Amino acid sequence: MKILSIVGARPNFMKIKPIYEELKSRKLDQILVHTGQHYDENMSRIFFENLELPKPDVFLGIGSGTHGVQTGAMMSRIEEVLTQEKPDLTLVVGDVNSTLAGAISSIKMQIPVAHVEAGYRSFDMKMPEEINRVLVDRISQLLFAPTEDAVENLMAEGIMKKRIFFVGNIMVETLISHLEKSKKSKILEKLSLEKNSYGILTIHRAENTSDSKKLIEIFKVLSKIENKLIVPLHPRTMKILKDMGYLEKLGRNIIIIEPLGYLDFLALMSNSKFILTDSGGIQEEALMLDIPCITLRENTERIVTLKNDANILVGTNGINLLKAIDDLPNRRIKYPKPPLWDDKVSKRIADVIIEHQELLAL
Ligand code: UD1
Repeated sequence: MKILSIVGARPNFMKIKPIYEELKSRKLDQILVHTGQHYDENMSRIFFENLELPKPDVFLGIGSGTHGVQTGAMMSRIEEVLTQEKPDLTLVVGDVNSTLAGAISSIKMQIPVAHVEAGYRSFDMKMPEEINRVLVDRISQLLFAPTEDAVENLMAEGIMKKRIFFVGNIMVETLISHLEKSKKSKILEKLSLEKNSYGILTIHRAENTSDSKKLIEIFKVLSKIENKLIVPLHPRTMKILKDMGYLEKLGRNIIIIEPLGYLDFLALMSNSKFILTDSGGIQEEALMLDIPCITLRENTERIVTLKNDANILVGTNGINLLKAIDDLPNRRIKYPKPPLWDDKVSKRIADVIIEHQELLAL
């Protein structure tokens, strides 16, 4: 059996790692395609290095663009690769534009699709990721759900039960298997940080960056907090702050750094006091690491993280944000972990792929 996996953006790389290794150990033929959606050294190559992922068999070099331009360019190139490789199954992970392009190109060529991280829903169609999730799930033959609520979402959309497999969270498997290694990171020394003395902020979503005034309001509010705030900044957010001339005006405690590789970021998170984010995966990683998370969004598709207040949604309202930061000392220190968020997710996925080939018939 030949499986072609498509990755392109930072969070994809973490998700494909354990699956790639597991399928390799089962002696399945694999082709790894990188669309090039993320291309900066610290958004792409460093992850392949940190995760010890093999060099992609095919690199499409698509790069940035509007959604239509980027997704369309990926589709036309992926179609060429699929024509040449003729895989039995295309595997896509997560909810980025590379995920959507891979799934559509594949099903149009009557090659079945497996989607890892199926069923997450924010029910907010203003989010490009939500559009990607809904569309990819609708055209996938194997749907691997990370949580029970994700399974329910898929059932509510009329997806056949036999195609849905509750396997757990693949990012968690990567996290567990890299935690030890991340302890060797020198990032705390490099930034002169004491354990448990600082917060982290990541912010890059369209909803928080498309309005630059809103973005600056968030930074203004955050300049009032006591703790140091380490901000590994996504290139888009960096560009906006630069263009607005705001980089020099950030408070003394806000420390802007380049995006970090996987192991350094894991080390930075593990030793932090709290995490502020608008990312999806970081909400899950915070829960696994028992670090209280505050999410700068109105909604989340990762609703399982909201249990026990492991994660709190504050939107972009400054008062709510400061209130949530003030309330941090009252938050729990240990959070119960969701079922199947463990180190066997890739095994469950490989078992299903091997044992349920009847589901690949279109
Ligand atoms: C993408 C995902 C998002 C994910 C994020 C992780 C979609 C719709 N969104 O968003 O879900 O959370 O990746 O980081 O796929 N850029 C660079 N260098 C790079 C990559 C991007 O400078 O290596 C800049 C470019 O200006 C580009 C912008 O970032 O236009 C946006 O990149 P893009 O991949 O389109 O979306 P992300 O915001 O990174």
